[in-house]
Amino acid sequence: MNSVVSGFEQIQVAARVIQRGGLVAFPTETVYGLGANALDSVAVLALFKAKNRPLDNPPILHVSDVNQVYQFVGEVPRNAGVLMRQFWPGPLTLVFKRSEALPKESTAGLDTVAVRMPNHSVALALIKQSGVPIAAPSANLSGNPSPTLAQHVYDDLAGKIDVILDGGSTSIGVESTVLDLSVNPPVLLRPGGVSFEAIRAVLPDVVLHPFVISEQEVTVKQARSPGMMHKHYAPNAEVILVEGNLSEMINKIIDLSEQYICEGKKVGVLATDETRNKYFGCTVKSMGSRSNLNLIAGNLFKELRAFNITSVDVILAESVPLDGIGLAVMNRLRKASGYNIIKA
Ligand code: TXA
Ligand code: MG
Repeated sequence: MNSVVSGFEQIQVAARVIQRGGLVAFPTETVYGLGANALDSVAVLALFKAKNRPLDNPPILHVSDVNQVYQFVGEVPRNAGVLMRQFWPGPLTLVFKRSEALPKESTAGLDTVAVRMPNHSVALALIKQSGVPIAAPSANLSGNPSPTLAQHVYDDLAGKIDVILDGGSTSIGVESTVLDLSVNPPVLLRPGGVSFEAIRAVLPDVVLHPFVISEQEVTVKQARSPGMMHKHYAPNAEVILVEGNLSEMINKIIDLSEQYICEGKKVGVLATDETRNKYFGCTVKSMGSRSNLNLIAGNLFKELRAFNITSVDVILAESVPLDGIGLAVMNRLRKASGYNIIKA
C-alpha cells in the first residue's frame, strides 16, 4: 500500500494508478469500492485476487457519464432511461446485456453487465480522471461486512492494494439496489439504497426475486445473481437473527442470552436505541433508533465489524421492519447469520 489519501491532487494520482493497472479503494455514497480499470483484464483479475473473491461473481461497472453506458452495454432497453434520469447518480445498479467491448473478466463470463453511476464527488472525479469505466466490488475481503469507513478497507486490504481515497463515513451504509433490466419483467436481485417502493413508482411491473426476501440459502440453480450464493457480511462470531414482533423478539433474545451465558459463552447483542438497555450480561451495540431505518442501515456494517474487537462467541441480532431500506437491512442480516434465523 502506498498511501491513504483524499483531495483533488490525490484523486489525480489515484486515477493514474487505475490507468496503469493498479487497485484504488474509493468512497461512494453506499460503501467503499475497490476499483480497477474495467477494460484491463489483468487489473480486474488482480482485483478478484486482492479480495479473495470467487471468479464467478462479477463486479459492478462504475461510470461517471451516461454515454459510457451506451459504449459498454449491448442493449439499453427503453425502461432504462427513466430509471437513470430518476436515480442516477445514486444507489441503483442496472443489469443490461453486455457488449463485446468489455473483457470477459469484467463480467465473470456472463452475457450481462451490471452498471451504476455513484453519487459521490470523489468517486465521480476518479472515474472521470481515469477516463475508463471502473470495475468495483465492495472494498472488503470476500465474506466480510462491506466497508463504510476507510479504516475498514485498511483493516481488510492493507498491503494488497495501491491506494485508499479517504472520504470519511459513507452516507447510506448498505450497497446499491441491483435491478435486472435484461429480462421482462425487470427483477430486483439485491435490495439496497433505492427502495423497491421507489422503483415500483416508476416501473410498476418490477418484481422482487424470491430470494431477496428468502429465509433460506439459495441453491446454485436458483441464483440469478452470482452474489446470491456466496457467504456474506459475516463478523467473526456466529450470528443468530431473531425475528418477530418487538416485545416477543426482546424476550426471545433475553432467553437465548441467558442460555448461552449459562453455557459459559460470551454474548453480543446487535440492538437498537430503544432496546439496548434490556440485555444484561451481554456486549450490546446499537444500530440506531428504530424511528430511523436510514440511520440503522448506515450503522449496520460498522457495528457488525465492531464485534470483531470484542471477544463475544455469539451475536444475537434484532430484526427491523421490511419497509423501505429495511428490506436491504434484513437481507444483509439474514446473510450475515448464514440464515440462522429464530422466530420469536
Ligand atoms: O453499492 C454498491 O453496489 C457497491 C459500491 C462499491 O458501488 N458495490 C458492490 O459491489 O456492492 P459487489 O461486487 O460487492 O456487489 C455486486 C453485486 C453482486 O451481488 C453481484 O453478484 C451482482 O452485483 N452482479 C454483478 N454483475 C451482475 C450481473 N451481470 N448480473 C447479476 N448480478 C450481478
Ligand atoms: Mg460486496
